[in-house]
Amino acid sequence: MRNLAAKHIWYIAMHIRQFKTADTEDAVALWKRCGLIQPWNDPYQDISRKLLVQPELFLVGESNGALVATAMAGYDGHRGSVYYLAVDPNQQGKGFGAELMCDIESRLYSLGCPKLSLDVRTTNDAVVGFYQRLGYSRDNVASFAKRLIVDSKGT
Ligand SMILES: CC(C)(COP(=O)(O)OP(=O)(O)OC[C@H]1O[C@@H](n2cnc3c(N)ncnc32)[C@H](O)[C@@H]1OP(=O)(O)O)[C@@H](O)C(=O)NCCC(=O)NCCS
Repeated sequence: MRNLAAKHIWYIAMHIRQFKTADTEDAVALWKRCGLIQPWNDPYQDISRKLLVQPELFLVGESNGALVATAMAGYDGHRGSVYYLAVDPNQQGKGFGAELMCDIESRLYSLGCPKLSLDVRTTNDAVVGFYQRLGYSRDNVASFAKRLIVDSKGT
């Protein structure tokens, strides 16, 4: 597989590991700093649910003892997915996001996942260039969703 992050390897100092419950507050704080918390999603419930389903694909990146990145990945037997991809604003532009995505691609590939699909909010145009740089392209699809559980903080 193509490793886009390879050119960053010389100066990257991020350790990727599975999310632990003790990371919860750091992760939620990071998502707030990155603008990823939506009023209709309770991040604590999102974490609780993910810990019940493929928790090994819920990853964090640590640098100098601090949690600097997260990604919540999954594979449903047909497509892989990634949510809550976030790199601390103070640590962006160092290759951490690419490194984490490469790690996820590798894990999903090992599971036999043929394709990774992800959603980008229409209000988050800024991230489009990042995914394009990593080889992702816009699919000719409209994303449809139906909420089955309204979170306690949800609207
Ligand atoms: C998107 C995000 C994870 C990228 O993380 P990052 O660590 O800053 O990205 P990297 O440093 O690994 O960048 C990898 C490559 O993408 C490029 N890139 C990064 N952000 C970019 C952007 N907004 N537009 C164009 N290119 C971008 C980098 O220049 C780099 O290219 P290079 O290999 O030529 O140097 C980070 O900006 C973030 O957390 N954003 C807020 C949360 C968010 O929007 N998450 C995605 C939800 S869908």
